[in-house]
Amino acid sequence: RRCEHQSFVGNWKLNKTVREAAALVTSLQTLVADVTDVEIVVAPVFTGLSAVAQALAGGDIRLAAQDVFWEDSGAFTGEVSPGMLKDVGCDYVIIGHSERRQYFSETNENAKALRSERTGKTGAVVKDHVLNGIVGLSADQITSTVIAYEPVWAIGTGHNATPDQAQEVHALIRSLLSEIYSPDVASQVRIQYGGSVKPDNAAALIAQPDVDGALVGTASWEAESFAQIVKVVC
Ligand code: G3P
Repeated sequence: RRCEHQSFVGNWKLNKTVREAAALVTSLQTLVADVTDVEIVVAPVFTGLSAVAQALAGGDIRLAAQDVFWEDSGAFTGEVSPGMLKDVGCDYVIIGHSERRQYFSETNENAKALRSERTGKTGAVVKDHVLNGIVGLSADQITSTVIAYEPVWAIGTGHNATPDQAQEVHALIRSLLSEIYSPDVASQVRIQYGGSVKPDNAAALIAQPDVDGALVGTASWEAESFAQIVKVVC
């Protein structure tokens, strides 16, 4: 498989001060300097985005936010818009993460997906989440969207899905995309696995034909372990 189809996102969740975020990404840049084909993305908290964007300037690592609102501006206290994320240097935003659903009763990922040009979308109840999340997205929009499958029982537990379990669900997601769009479009969409991805299990997961990289939580909070994961591919 093509290396450039593989994508790794480090979801820092609610971690890292501005100083820690800049230090982490600076170390990461050095550690992955020889990785050229694989896409690498980091997703700091909102307060860290600007400093991380500056630390990344001119490099290949891309920036993601962890959430977004769908309006451009207005009386929406506490929210951040797609344009504002773009303005600060984000190429991606994670939407519909199971932690947003669990703690904030979030169900409105489709409105967010429609407003975010390039998005990471995570889901646990696969068919419903995929179908609800992509309603109205054009073929062009879906091919620049990354879908992440994260079994909720695997998140932060140290218990990852087996490569076979991941492959089964990823194949299901790809066949849904194939029915809705076309086999060609479906083959272009990156489908990441997330849930206790670590340096010692990444290679077997990534080796599956429909696993196009990983959405990494805990192991992305240290530059060394995230770099090791990224390097298992090519
Ligand atoms: O978004 C990534 C995440 O939910 C997985 O977390 O800590 O199991 O790698 P973790």
